Amino acid sequence: MRADRFTGQTAFITGSAQGMGFQTALDMAKEGASVVISDVDEEALGQGAEILSRQGAAFLALKCDVSDPREVEAAVGKTLETFDRLDILINNAGILKNFPIEETTDELLRQTIGINVMGALYAIRAVTPAMKRRHYGRIINVSSICGKMGDHSTTYAYGASKGALLSVTRSVAYQLGPFGVTCNCIAPHAVMTKLMAYWDEGRKKDAAEKIPVRRLGTVEDMSHLMMFLASPEAGFINGENVNINGGYYMD
Ligand SMILES: NC(=O)c1ccc[n+]([C@@H]2O[C@H](COP(=O)([O-])OP(=O)(O)OC[C@H]3O[C@@H](n4cnc5c(N)ncnc54)[C@H](O)[C@@H]3O)[C@@H](O)[C@H]2O)c1
Repeated sequence: MRADRFTGQTAFITGSAQGMGFQTALDMAKEGASVVISDVDEEALGQGAEILSRQGAAFLALKCDVSDPREVEAAVGKTLETFDRLDILINNAGILKNFPIEETTDELLRQTIGINVMGALYAIRAVTPAMKRRHYGRIINVSSICGKMGDHSTTYAYGASKGALLSVTRSVAYQLGPFGVTCNCIAPHAVMTKLMAYWDEGRKKDAAEKIPVRRLGTVEDMSHLMMFLASPEAGFINGENVNINGGYYMD
């Protein structure tokens, strides 16, 4: 792994105040990228900014609700104004709530699709002109094992939202590939972030026992994969979905 892999490049990561999005921002900054962390959680955003600042990273921390296209356009505009280029977009923002099908409200359906799917569509649209102009880009969508398997236990809209990202990835890969822009997707499972705080110790132990490598995922595992897909070296990988689940689900 080259220490300067992202020197001169700018990465915009949604929902990146914490969890795997933040870890990826931090790791990319260590490898030379200017990074934009953006989120609705302003307290976590402040904490993330402090860590990046201590590392001496070139960064912006922006409040950005991905379900609002104006906020996404504004955040992308600010990124370009500050760093003059945008090489990498990671659509990482997501929510997951637990409700049986019959108790899922209209609001939760709208919110889940609005953030997990519309957010990615808005961000891809917003970055496309800048990426096309420079004939370079790496777009990564964070889907989920639930996008492929269906969702066992959380709202059924979550699986739907993550499945949609698989298709979005392929459409973008077809349409932006000729402009030097690749689009890929990752499908994680069992990473103990805030999103997964509802898993108790018993569930974690049970899940780890069912994963062939006998452990849960880490934010570093996710970051390593996203950094590879975001790197110049990954230019011939386009429209792929990469399972990252220790072998729990293979296809
Ligand atoms: N943790 C896992 O096991 C797992 C598995 C599969 C997929 N994922 C996906 O990974 C992505 C990152 O999640 P994580 O596990 O790091 O959890 P996380 O909760 O640490 O990160 C998600 C972030 O998204 C932010 N967010 C929520 N709504 C937003 C909005 N409207 N606009 C902008 N940001 C918003 C949250 O504030 C949070 O910081 C999500 O898309 C999630 O669905 C996670």
